[in-house]
Amino acid sequence: MASERIRNEEIMKKVVSAEVAANLIKDGMVIGVSGFTPSGYPKAVPLALSQRVKATGEKMKVTLYSGASVGAELDGEWAQAGIISKRMPYQTNSDLRNCINNGSTEYIDINLSVMPQLVNYGFLPKVNVAIIEALAITEEGNIIPTTAVGNAATYCDNADIIIVEINENQPLALEGIADIYTLENPPFRKPIPITHPGDRIGTPYIECKLEKIAAVVMTNMPDKTRPLAPIDETSKAISKNLIAFLENEVKEGRYGENLLPLQSGVGSVANAVLAGLCESNFKNLTCYTEVIQDSMLDLIRCGKADMVSATALSPSPMGMENFRRDFDSLKDKIVLRPQEISNNPEVIRRLGVIAMNTALEVDIYGNVNSTHVMGTKMMNGIGGSGDFAANASLTIFTTESIAKKGDISSIVPLVSHVDHTEHNVMVIVTEQGTADLRGKSPKERALAIINNCAHPDYRPQLLDYLKKAESCSGKHTPHVLCDALSWHVRFTETGTMKNKA
Ligand code: COA
Repeated sequence: MASERIRNEEIMKKVVSAEVAANLIKDGMVIGVSGFTPSGYPKAVPLALSQRVKATGEKMKVTLYSGASVGAELDGEWAQAGIISKRMPYQTNSDLRNCINNGSTEYIDINLSVMPQLVNYGFLPKVNVAIIEALAITEEGNIIPTTAVGNAATYCDNADIIIVEINENQPLALEGIADIYTLENPPFRKPIPITHPGDRIGTPYIECKLEKIAAVVMTNMPDKTRPLAPIDETSKAISKNLIAFLENEVKEGRYGENLLPLQSGVGSVANAVLAGLCESNFKNLTCYTEVIQDSMLDLIRCGKADMVSATALSPSPMGMENFRRDFDSLKDKIVLRPQEISNNPEVIRRLGVIAMNTALEVDIYGNVNSTHVMGTKMMNGIGGSGDFAANASLTIFTTESIAKKGDISSIVPLVSHVDHTEHNVMVIVTEQGTADLRGKSPKERALAIINNCAHPDYRPQLLDYLKKAESCSGKHTPHVLCDALSWHVRFTETGTMKNKA
C-alpha cells in the first residue's frame, strides 16, 4: 500500500512515473545518488533516462556522485548511453570501466570517507539533483533508506531538489537498521560518540525538508548484487594463513579471543576469510566495516559475531533471500551508517579495527596497488580500503601470489601504482604464507615478503633483483629503478612476464 510507504499527503501528490521524474535531469547537471557496492541505488529513474537518451540521441552529459559502486541499471546503462562525463568516488561496472580506460569518462578515485566532506566543504561542483532509493517517506518528509546509506544524507542536504524512488521490493521490516548521524564542518565538528560497533548515535531516517522532494517514483526492482564465486583452494589457503596469523596474535597476548572489530574487503578471498572465521576458536567477534556480505551474516548466524556495523548490506542474491528469511534474528545485530561514519578515521583508530583488504600487487617493501592493472588501467578504485588501512590497529593485505595463471607475479620489485604505502601496510598474506612487516626495516621486509609470500617460480628473480639493487643503489631501500619498471613493461609488451624462472 502506497500510504504505508508515503506517510505524508503532500508527498503523495508528487508521485510520478520514472519517465516524468527523469525529465528533471538536464544536460550538464551534477547528480548525487544513494547506493553502495551495489545495493540501495536508484534504478527506475536512471533506466528511464538512459532509455530516452538511447532512443532520441539527445545530448546528455552529467557528473555522477554516489556512495560507492551502483548496479548495472545506473553505471552500466548510463555508460552505454554515454551519459557520464565525470564519475566519483567508486565503481565496479565493466561498461563504465571501459569508458574510464578509453578516456571518455573522467574518474576521480578517492577514499570513500572523504567524499561527503568534499561536498559539504564546497570543494566540488554542487549537487543539482539527488536521487535516493527509499523504503518510505515519513509524515515529516524524512527519508528512510533501504539497503545502503552511503552518502545519501549528504546529497539530500546539498541538492537543489530530490527525487525519491520508493522501492517496494525492499521489505518495510528493514526500517530501523539505519543510524544516520551527520557531522558539522570544522571548526564546529565534535567527537563521534561511538565506542562500540553497535552504538546507535543518530536517527533511523535522513532528515529532509518536505519542499525539497520534487518527485516520488514507486518501483519494485531488486538490487543487482553480485553472485559469489565458490571458495576455491587458493582463497582457502589464504584464509587459513590469515586465521593462523590472527590466532598467533591471541597466543602472543596482543589481542583477546574476540580480537578487535574486523573490517573486511569484498570479493572471494574476503568471503573465504570470513567463512574460515566461522570454523575458528574466536568468540564474540564484532565488525566495524563497510559492506556486509554473505559470510559476515554467517558469522552472526554461527554465533561467532555479536554485532556488525557497516554502510551497506550487499549479500549475493541467494544471501539476500536467506537474510530476509532470518531477518528477525539478525536485525538487532546490524547497524547501517553513513559512509562518513562507517569509514571514519577517528572511529577506526579508537576501536582498533583490524583491516583486511585485497591487493592486485604488492612490492617487496610492502607498498600495495589495489586499483591499477599494470599501472595504467583502472580496475575498480581504492574504495574504503585506504580509510581502514591508514587507521587500523592492524593493516593486512591479501593477494594470490600470482595472476593470469602464473604469467604474472603479484609480488613485484616496485608496484606499478601505489594505493597503500609501506608506512601503513603491516601484514601481507598470500596462499604461500604470511609476512609480518611490523618493526622490520625495508631490507628485512623485502626478505620476509619474497621468502614467505612470493610464488616459488618468482623467488629467484626477486632475490636477484634485491641483490643487484643492494650492490648499486642507496642502501636503505635498494632499487634499480629501470629494472623495477621494466618488470611491468615486459609483460605489457609481450603478454607474458619474462622474469619467470
Ligand atoms: N597484475 C595484473 N592483473 C592482475 C593482477 C596483477 N598483479 N592481479 C589480479 N589481476 C587481474 C586479474 O587477472 C583479474 O583480471 P580479469 O578481470 O581480466 O579476470 C582482475 O585483475 C581482478 O582480479 P581478481 O583476483 O579477480 O580480483 P578480486 O575480485 O579478488 O579483487 C581487487 C581484487 C583488488 C580488484 C578488489 O579487491 C578491489 O577492487 N579492491 C579495492 C577496493 C577495496 O579494497 N574495497 C574494499 C574496501 S572496504
